[in-house]
Formats: sequence, C-alpha cells, structure tokens
Amino acid sequence: MSIRGVILAGGKGTRMGELTKVTNKHLLPVGAWPMVYHPLKKLTGAGMQDVLLVSGTEHMGDFVELLGSGKDHACRLTYRVQDEAGGIAQALGLAEHFCMGSRSCVLLGDNIFRDPLISFIEKANTRPDWAWIGLKQVPDPGRYGVAELNGEQVVSIEEKPANPKSDYAVVGIYVYPPDVFGLIRTLKPSNRGELEITDVNNHYLKQGRMGYSILDGYWTDAGTLDSLDFSNELVRKDPPRF
Ligand code: DAU
Repeated sequence: MSIRGVILAGGKGTRMGELTKVTNKHLLPVGAWPMVYHPLKKLTGAGMQDVLLVSGTEHMGDFVELLGSGKDHACRLTYRVQDEAGGIAQALGLAEHFCMGSRSCVLLGDNIFRDPLISFIEKANTRPDWAWIGLKQVPDPGRYGVAELNGEQVVSIEEKPANPKSDYAVVGIYVYPPDVFGLIRTLKPSNRGELEITDVNNHYLKQGRMGYSILDGYWTDAGTLDSLDFSNELVRKDPPRF
C-alpha cells in the first residue's frame, strides 16, 4: 500500500507573541531554513513524492510563494486550507481526498528531530493496518501527549496530563491506515474545542492496532519561544539528517 506525506502547519500560533503577528510560526527560522522545510525534507528524504500541506487562510499565500509546486524539493505539493484551527485531527481530516485510499505519514509542522524518517516508516510497514506513533523520553511530559507502555504495547495515551504516567511524549510523527478518515468523522471536540489526535490514537489503541517507535536522536517541538530557541541550538550543533 502506498503512503503519502502530510504536513500540518495551521493552528493559532498564540504562544509566539510578536513573532507571529504578521507571519506563521512554520515560516520562522530553524537553522538556515524556514521551519516548514524540516518536515518537508523529512518526508521527501523518506521517498514521498506527493505531499499535502495544510494551513489556515491567513498565510497560505506565503507557503505557496515559498514552496510553489514543490519542484525545488523534488516533490509534488498540494495545499488545503483549514478555515479555523479546529485541532490536529480536523486538519488531518482535510487530507482524505489527497490520500485516495493510501496510508498517510503525518508530521506536525513544528516538530524538529534529528534522524531520518525511513526506519520509522519501515517499522510501520510491518503492520500497514495499524496506526504508528513516535515516542521520545522528555523531562516535561505534561506538555505533550503521554504514552504509558507495557513492553511492546501502548497501554494508554493521555493529552497533557497533570500527572503523567510516564516520561514518553507522543511526538508529532504518525502513520495511519486509510480508515483514519472515517474515524475522524466520529470524533467530538475536546474541552479545548479541538478534534484531538490523541482521541484518534486512543481508538486504534482500543482496537489493538497501535505500534510505536522510540526516536533515537534529538526531538523537540518549536512551538514556544523557548523551544524555538532550543530547536535552533540543536540544529546548529548537530544538523538533522534527511
Ligand atoms: O508536538 C507534539 C504534540 O503536539 C503532541 O505530543 C500532542 O499530543 C499534540 O496534541 C500536539 O500538542 P500541541 O498542543 O503542542 O499542538 P499544537 O496546537 O501546538 O499544534 C501542533 C501542530 O499542529 C502545529 O505545528 C500546527 C498544527 N495544527 C494545530 C492545530 C490545533 C494544525 O495544523 N491545525 C490545528 O487546528
């Protein structure tokens, strides 16, 4: 079954203060590039030639101006507008027609990590009808989705728990089978008014169709002023591999 790349680069960008007053978080610099180059290069580096970028209305024109058809990045780019920031799962739902029955490899546009995607995808290929998540041990798991593990099994996933059951953050790297889109249609908004990717993942977990990979190299999100700084420091010291 083929696999198509999806970059989610919408959202409210409210955590970045003045830096995102006139631009989108994913266009801010990480190393020598705009942030969005990082997920794009991860996907194309893993062999994906068809990539969808989802963002809001405000800055879609800037993404198109920056990335065009994708020809400078050896891929074909498609763009879809998310009218309002209704959550990561809602943004992914916009990829249904683009995926046309293929699996999807979904990257959150503000996630920066060192290692190439290929080993993650190879592991996901062993069970193409499962959902696959990436995990990374972090010092502050309460900021993220948190996975509780029992050997090879994920036992629970909680979104930003007050009392995390482990220090394994669910990172913004996911592979889903085509039935993810039917599942997204059944979701209800969470307390923060969003369709949550953690709810998607918990459905697969309940069905016994969830696998994980632990990332070896560094990983961080770059969605706050501090983490944007940190991601630049990481990328400068140890450039990511694609
Ligand atoms: O970074 C990993 C974390 O990302 C996960 O551990 C969490 O489980 C997941 O919910 C998410 O948490 P955040 O609260 O940090 O997500 P944030 O709202 O910052 O959005 C992450 C990316 O998703 C961002 O690059 C923009 C994109 N996004 C987000 C929303 C809410 C969209 O494209 N559309 C949206 O509506």
